[in-house]
Amino acid sequence: MDIVRDRFNRPLQDLRISLTDRCNFRCVYCMPKEVFGTPTHFMPPEDAMTRQEIVTLVRALSGLGVRKVRLTGGEPLLRQDIVPLVRDLAGIADIDDIALTTNGSTLTRARARSLKEAGLHRITVSIDSLDPERFGRINGVGFAPDRVLEAIDNAAEAGLAPVKVNVVVKRGLNDMDIVPLAEHFRFSGHTVRYIEYMDVGTSNGWSRKDIVPAAEILQRLSSRWPLHPVEPLYYGEVASRYAYDDGAGEIGIIASVTRPFCRQCTRARLSADGRLLLCLFAEHGTNLRDMLRNGATEQDIMNTVRQRWEGREDRYSELRNGNPRASKRLEMFQIGG
Ligand code: GTP
Ligand code: 5AD
Ligand code: SF4
Ligand code: SF4
Repeated sequence: MDIVRDRFNRPLQDLRISLTDRCNFRCVYCMPKEVFGTPTHFMPPEDAMTRQEIVTLVRALSGLGVRKVRLTGGEPLLRQDIVPLVRDLAGIADIDDIALTTNGSTLTRARARSLKEAGLHRITVSIDSLDPERFGRINGVGFAPDRVLEAIDNAAEAGLAPVKVNVVVKRGLNDMDIVPLAEHFRFSGHTVRYIEYMDVGTSNGWSRKDIVPAAEILQRLSSRWPLHPVEPLYYGEVASRYAYDDGAGEIGIIASVTRPFCRQCTRARLSADGRLLLCLFAEHGTNLRDMLRNGATEQDIMNTVRQRWEGREDRYSELRNGNPRASKRLEMFQIGG
């Protein structure tokens, strides 16, 4: 097996797959309800990749170096075939890490167990505040934080621990939750990861002043509980890791705005309708689902992906200037984060 590398010598190691563009939340930073209030913006169901198409594409990409698959959305647990899909992916010889990022709203104890049994290795659950009023406002549908905390417990009980807990931080919206969230998860075995709010898509009204820079997040936390940096777990890890000096566990900070990590970006993405995207901020991508529907073989897919990856020059976050560009960037729920 040869490892394919792009123009900056970055290998293709991870694949993030958006399983659906649908979501039952309307997070203000992703799918604001003023813009996405009705379901008319979602793609017709037949446009979504089928389970078989996904499996074929992952098998093809594993032949080019992909070892890690992350399932996202939209909300990936809205896919009714999620458990058999995970089982199929776990059966692909070269895939050694299967993870899922979810809002936790439908992660019952039984479902968490089925996912674990099917071969899911890791899970990340998003929660941006423990305050019911604030969390309800952020998720746009009044969903209660306690129910997401339950989902985290369900995942841990099913053996998917340690759970990663994602928190998108937006100034004035939930920066007051940085410390309470850390306090809640200290000594729990789970890792809270604070994410700088990003200018993904064109609908969330992002402005640079909305972000809370990683340095400030770290300062706020470490002035309360001293922290020390920890080495990354793997090449290209997006979170910078820190451990509490008192042994309470770890936190992570994903600083894609103030400390871009494009230099080590080993990720390709598949949108829910099968487009191969070489960057979170890509505007276009070759539709691999269409290729399959038109009779392409796994080898054809490999040849196309190799060619695209070898030509890859994407490094949006390193080049980002003061304002989001006017562009046709895809939305977070279409590309899967
Ligand atoms: P692991 O490290 O495998 O646990 O997962 P992860 O942190 O890559 O995945 P997750 O879905 O939890 O993503 C966390 C945040 O990082 C999300 O806001 C993603 O959009 C962001 N992110 C992940 N990969 C990239 C990337 O390549 N570029 C940018 N700019 N952001 C990314
Ligand atoms: N900026 C940063 N992170 C975001 N996410 C969704 N939209 C944004 C954004 N604009 C997060 C979700 C989830 C992960 C996949 O991406 O909250 O945790
Ligand atoms: Fe749904 Fe996740 Fe987007 Fe929130 S961030 S609207 S949970 S896809
Ligand atoms: Fe990779 Fe694009 Fe994110 Fe940079 S901005 S790390 S190239 S996905």
